[in-house]
Amino acid sequence: EDFSVVVVGSCMTDLVSQAPRFPKAGETIHGHRFFIGFGGKGANQCVQAARMGAKTAMVCKVGRDVFGNDYIQNFKNNGISTAYVEQTEKAATGAASIIVNDTGENAIVIVAGANLLLGQEELQRAQSAIINAKVLVCQLEISPDASLQALKMARENHVKTIFNPAPAIAYLDSDFYKASDVFCCNESEAEMLTGLSVTSVEDACQVGLELLNKGCASVIVTLGSQGCVVCQSTNKTPKHIPTIEVTAADTTGAGDSFIGALAFYMAHYPAMPMEEMARRANLVAAVSVQTVGTQTSFPFRKDLPTELF
Ligand code: RIB
Ligand code: NA
Repeated sequence: EDFSVVVVGSCMTDLVSQAPRFPKAGETIHGHRFFIGFGGKGANQCVQAARMGAKTAMVCKVGRDVFGNDYIQNFKNNGISTAYVEQTEKAATGAASIIVNDTGENAIVIVAGANLLLGQEELQRAQSAIINAKVLVCQLEISPDASLQALKMARENHVKTIFNPAPAIAYLDSDFYKASDVFCCNESEAEMLTGLSVTSVEDACQVGLELLNKGCASVIVTLGSQGCVVCQSTNKTPKHIPTIEVTAADTTGAGDSFIGALAFYMAHYPAMPMEEMARRANLVAAVSVQTVGTQTSFPFRKDLPTELF
């Protein structure tokens, strides 16, 4: 059986505290709510693609612990194949400590744990799913070597690739750019990768071109409430794609909602212009920011306007 979207990436248990503001170093403050959710950029992106209607598989590693068991059930509940989800005794399921302030911003510490044990052997076992997919998606919450290997494996077999360099690292192997059909990052990741500051749409256009010159087919720089900028090697004029204005309750995972939706469009509407895919993915992500939580706020196909399909 072939999948339309395959994600090789992370799973994290999100431990979320909502507080009026972020604490300072050494400070204790009262928050008003705590909850546990399913997160991790890889899994979040896979869940959004699945909820749009993509046939998906997740290639990942969780611990042989309660969080890992629960996560596997969560994939099943979302209709995602768990054929390539492995459990290990050697490390705990990844965890993310998240603080969300009253303006909907977040600060996150991840402990990747079992995610870092996903390697070459696991990729070999998932090879048929990866090389027969329509779209492969990778991030940087697993070992960079594993992400790069998966991207190359896909590319060599004419599978479209989306790479999300998140969380950003200052030194990224130049092969990542060459292996990316779509290189999709947010403003802070773009800054970290290029050393250029991104505070406006114009800056995003410039940084997008800079990243494009490193060898990707397309670059998308996401800009939160400002939408995104799309740059393509076929037409070097960056295009700003604005989005609708919404009230943000929790922006955690909005970028993942965007990428999951983009993966769905690339797999199911391959002839659609990239700008149009980005416009639609902006609208899906805008739904996600209006409610609290990460995956809990990601819309299903039935919740979205039919014009998006
Ligand atoms: O992008 C949001 C995600 O980042 C959260 O779900 C958290 O797990 C971290 O990985
Ligand atoms: Na949300």
